[in-house]
Amino acid sequence: MGYEKLEQAAAAIRDLTGRSEHSAAVVLGSGLGDYAASLPHAIAAPYASIPNFPAPRVEGHSGTLYSIQVANRHALIFAGRVHFYEGWELFDVVFGVRAAALAGCHTVLLTNASGGVSRGLSVGDLVAISDHVNLTGRNPLHGANDDRIGPRFPGVSDAYSSALRREMKPVFEQCGVPYKEGVYTWFTGPSYETPAEIELVRRIGGDLVGMSTVPEAIAMAHMGIRVGAISLVTNMAAGTTEEPLSHGEVQEAAEQAGAKFEALLDSLLPVLVADPR
Ligand code: HPA
Repeated sequence: MGYEKLEQAAAAIRDLTGRSEHSAAVVLGSGLGDYAASLPHAIAAPYASIPNFPAPRVEGHSGTLYSIQVANRHALIFAGRVHFYEGWELFDVVFGVRAAALAGCHTVLLTNASGGVSRGLSVGDLVAISDHVNLTGRNPLHGANDDRIGPRFPGVSDAYSSALRREMKPVFEQCGVPYKEGVYTWFTGPSYETPAEIELVRRIGGDLVGMSTVPEAIAMAHMGIRVGAISLVTNMAAGTTEEPLSHGEVQEAAEQAGAKFEALLDSLLPVLVADPR
């Protein structure tokens, strides 16, 4: 059963890190994979050492869970995530954050790379996700519900905690990062969108497009976990510019913004681990 698998993973996280309690988790998106290794008192656990954990198959996502110290608390950092487009079931896509929740995390910060749709956005912007549109027809809660994880019909109207966004805003500003919010639209990928799809996104009020994050946010709403999400705009979405979109462009922009994103994460970690207000 799914719940037992999650409990085994949560127990392994406690055993492997030697830390019985973690307060918050951060999922690192493209270009951020090396962030955790440099953090104070980081303890690394390869995903392969944690029972039932799916191991990433995509370049640049190494697949290591780090436990770090933040103030007098601990946080988990997921370096490497698995995506639906790799062929994983959504159960596997959300496995890590669910295990983190069972290991005690009250807050999860999801990060990702995205295409910018709305006019106010530029490559390199860091955008706090305020809401999402799920255009995939897929849902990680599909199938029998396990009431130990959460209710059959969870609300998701504050899936990206407005209270946490209010706390994150001044931190962006202290870091010299202009604070922006946007609605993230989930496509499965791995092909990028067509210009017509991006026009659709624009008309329905989407600001960003990407291939991750939404399943994890739904799974966390199901468990009552506070979620924040930050998206790095690595390219303007298809059809917005003359240039055809390439994965190389996305990777390059992710690398260029890496240091800025990492400095922001450093400053956000104490907010994430503190008890929610
Ligand atoms: N579309 C979907 N996913 C992405 C994009 C995009 O333009 N850029 C980075 N991830």
